[in-house]
Amino acid sequence: MIEEIKQLLKQKNAVLVAHYYVSPELQDLAEETGGITSDSLEMARFGKNSSADIIVVAGVKFMGETAKILSPEKKVLVLDKNATCSLDEGCPIDEFSKFCDENSNRTIVVYANTSAEIKAKADWVVTSGSALSVVKHLKQQGEKILWAPDKHLGYYVKTNSNADMILWDGHCVVHEKFKADSLKQLKQKHPSATILVHPESPKAVIELADLVGSTTAIIDAVRNKSGIFIVATDNGIFHQMQKVSNNATLIEAPSRGYAADCESCAHCDWMAMNNTEKLLLTIKNEINEINIDPKIITKAQHSINRLLNFTK
Ligand code: 13P
Ligand code: SF4
Repeated sequence: MIEEIKQLLKQKNAVLVAHYYVSPELQDLAEETGGITSDSLEMARFGKNSSADIIVVAGVKFMGETAKILSPEKKVLVLDKNATCSLDEGCPIDEFSKFCDENSNRTIVVYANTSAEIKAKADWVVTSGSALSVVKHLKQQGEKILWAPDKHLGYYVKTNSNADMILWDGHCVVHEKFKADSLKQLKQKHPSATILVHPESPKAVIELADLVGSTTAIIDAVRNKSGIFIVATDNGIFHQMQKVSNNATLIEAPSRGYAADCESCAHCDWMAMNNTEKLLLTIKNEINEINIDPKIITKAQHSINRLLNFTK
């Protein structure tokens, strides 16, 4: 199957762009075939700069949409159109437009984990790796901010920038489950461990972190390092962390505790919908194409390009 996928990618001048949370097999395949495995920002940038005719996105729907917005002339395919994100789902355009209308004096900053319509409504799109610096920059310009959809990332950015921000009430179902009390107990068992936390996690978990950062920042934190790391993000990232570290011991941050339904739920069900069987079908039959209204594309390009220029 892998060989057939490789041949099809070549034959169709297609490129595979994968997120750090998908399976190790897909991550390796993307890298071996001239594509990329990266965070959501680099996925978007790579697709835009690529000379491929087809971009195949192994990730979730908003990542496919971002690729299409930045490369409208290319065919963008995803492996499963039902693979979405609780942040995207929790921010419907009608309710969000009302929220914006009620706060029309504010600059609209939205996280990349949103639909194309929400991005079209925004002044700025940011990712976890860029949110804090963009908001600090806007604060310097004297702007007040309306933030959506992740309340935890929003709270983290607000407290670290002192910006005037109002927050949409959304969350990531994976990061929301990390438990501070159980994390404290785990740290007592491994006192030398470094705690790495993605900022979509709750405030109490972030407070225990030695490093708070995007998926890329978390991977960079273990580069050439040994020792013990407790990681509060999707465990799909462990594949790259193991590759770049010097035999580091990686432990999932606990999700158990009050009202928990598992020991560690640190894997996104939507990311897990991506697999090699679906990749083969997708590229072979050119199915699951992302199509977006051209008017939405033009508006959303504006807010995403602002981010790309800012982070250049
Ligand atoms: P990154 O922007 O860090 O890749 O994160 C995307 C995401 O979905 C985190 O849950
Ligand atoms: Fe969305 Fe969370 Fe899954 Fe990332 S891990 S895609 S934020 S639900």
